[in-house]
Amino acid sequence: MENRIISSDLQLEDHEIESSIRPISLEEYIGQSAIKENIKIFIEAAKLRGEALDHVLLYGPPGLGKTTMAGVIAAEMGVKIKITSGPAIERPGDIAAILNNLQHGDILFIDEIHRMSRQVEEVLYSAMEDYCIDIVVGKGPAAKSIRLTLPKFTLIGATTRAGMLSAPLRDRFGIIQRLEYYNKEELGQIISRAAHILGTEIEMNAALELAKCSRGTPRVANRLLKRVRDIALIKYDCHITEAVCLKALELLNIDRNGLDDIDRRIIEAIALQFKGGPVGLDTLAAAIGEERDTLEDVYEPYLIQQGYMQRTPRGRMLAPKAYEVFDLKSL
Ligand code: ADE
Repeated sequence: MENRIISSDLQLEDHEIESSIRPISLEEYIGQSAIKENIKIFIEAAKLRGEALDHVLLYGPPGLGKTTMAGVIAAEMGVKIKITSGPAIERPGDIAAILNNLQHGDILFIDEIHRMSRQVEEVLYSAMEDYCIDIVVGKGPAAKSIRLTLPKFTLIGATTRAGMLSAPLRDRFGIIQRLEYYNKEELGQIISRAAHILGTEIEMNAALELAKCSRGTPRVANRLLKRVRDIALIKYDCHITEAVCLKALELLNIDRNGLDDIDRRIIEAIALQFKGGPVGLDTLAAAIGEERDTLEDVYEPYLIQQGYMQRTPRGRMLAPKAYEVFDLKSL
């Protein structure tokens, strides 16, 4: 497994930071213990048999580490990984070219797999099941279908919307795993580990303070860490204490419950404009000036999971916790 450079280089760009703090083995991967335990067994079994790992579907809210997990699986299997996304594969020819370039055991990772077109999806059916694809060469009466045999590969699909996958596609995944939100302690460990790799030390209570405000999500936790690190560098001699974190959270407009401006606007809009709901998702999105998909995929799952909001057949409604936490009458 490749060696990681522990860097205190403050010139690192954000995307370099991102890849330097990504875990590359199951042992380094914090949290998701049930998934790790399962995946470890499936990987060991596939390796013992000298076979490619069965196709894997990872689903759950954004930012929980689906891409990271795919990278870890590739490293643990000792194979190459090709990363693409549903919207990037426009035509059946695109997916045929990608599949044709894979080698035995390789992993093809398709993020947002629910956003593939039906025609592209249909190419995947035979590729996943029989490791072959039929391509049509030529046009009109001279058109011929040629069967192309593919190497045994592993497809790892990731989606925030498992419900939007068609049944034939979903059924072709032998391993289906749902990623869960991380708890405070796990996020604290993720933050400490990332800080250490970045050459910054963070006190444990400071890491836990950031963890509390990270929406159960490593992506948010690491984003907060990067901004706190900036603030600590400029104002506090690089030392990240609990007080520095609290100051940073205040500057970033994140409250003690880990909610940001948009979360609060959502809660406020339902409470005041729509009298507690129910309100339709499109109407709510228009009222706060956000994309419907962002609201549905990013904000809503956490607000629902934390008990601020409910999804009902008639629309979105505030839940009792929103009234308890916010003094809604005074908003
Ligand atoms: N960085 C992002 N997600 C992580 C995880 N689950 N474990 C360790 N570091 C991470």
